[in-house]
Amino acid sequence: MANRVDARQTVTAENQRTPQAIILLGGPGAGKGTQAREICSHLEIPHISTGDILRSNISQQTPLGQKAKEYMNRGDLVPDDLIIDMVRDRIGQADCQGGFLLDGFPRTLGQAKALGGLLQDKRLGSPMVINLRVSTEVLVQRLSGRRICPSCQRTYHVTFQPPLRSGICDTDGAALQQRADDREEAIRERLVAYDEQTAPLIGYYGNEGRLFDVNGEQTPQLLTSELTRLFEVA
Ligand code: AP5
Ligand code: MG
Ligand code: ZN
Repeated sequence: MANRVDARQTVTAENQRTPQAIILLGGPGAGKGTQAREICSHLEIPHISTGDILRSNISQQTPLGQKAKEYMNRGDLVPDDLIIDMVRDRIGQADCQGGFLLDGFPRTLGQAKALGGLLQDKRLGSPMVINLRVSTEVLVQRLSGRRICPSCQRTYHVTFQPPLRSGICDTDGAALQQRADDREEAIRERLVAYDEQTAPLIGYYGNEGRLFDVNGEQTPQLLTSELTRLFEVA
């Protein structure tokens, strides 16, 4: 059963100290990246976004990037074998020994099962899973208004999180861009991929008993404090 989170609910102190994997689940545009940055700086653990790793492979024109690009631009999922190899490499690195947060992985049942094996090999217990619950209508609003800084990767939204000067990054003055898959057609495909292949993971992890279901339709600041409380000592 999923745990509905309220202001009083916390997980134990042990979770904060014991290295563990945290998974952020949620539809495209649910706010995974926005919240992952806050959680990771709070807990001082690496933020592993499979989407960010793939985009960086595309911009560096690596063989992986060349294979992934068409799937991503269409809004389809990249095949499991490529993704699982990529995650195995990343969580094998030294900075992951104290735990890590996965943003956008797993996204299929096959990936979830493979992750279970990887965590067992690393002697990490079952992951803590946070599901950001956001309606389809709000997901579309968030994706169509998103802008990103190509230089520092900071994320904005034309209405919900606008930069101080329109179209310009507050941090470094770079011109903001729209992501290649934030076009209407690709957004539609991403929503279908999510419903068919990723949403079933809510039930999968719900059965393991470490799923926290959170209302993702709050301001980013309120959501961050709700998530931060999850990691605090009762
Ligand atoms: P990925 O990069 O993971 O994209 P995604 O899951 O579609 O999610 P997004 O990054 O678009 O959204 P987000 O939840 O991070 O939201 P954000 O914080 O930016 O994956 C891209 C592609 O790569 C996939 O389609 C697939 O092809 C491939 N891929 C990646 N991982 C894969 C895997 N495991 N297997 C197979 N293929 C894979 O926020 C969105 C917007 O909303 C922003 O503008 C933000 O400012 C705004 N916002 C955020 N929070 C709030 C809030 N609380 N209130 C109002 N606005 C908000
Ligand atoms: Mg993201
Ligand atoms: Zn920037």
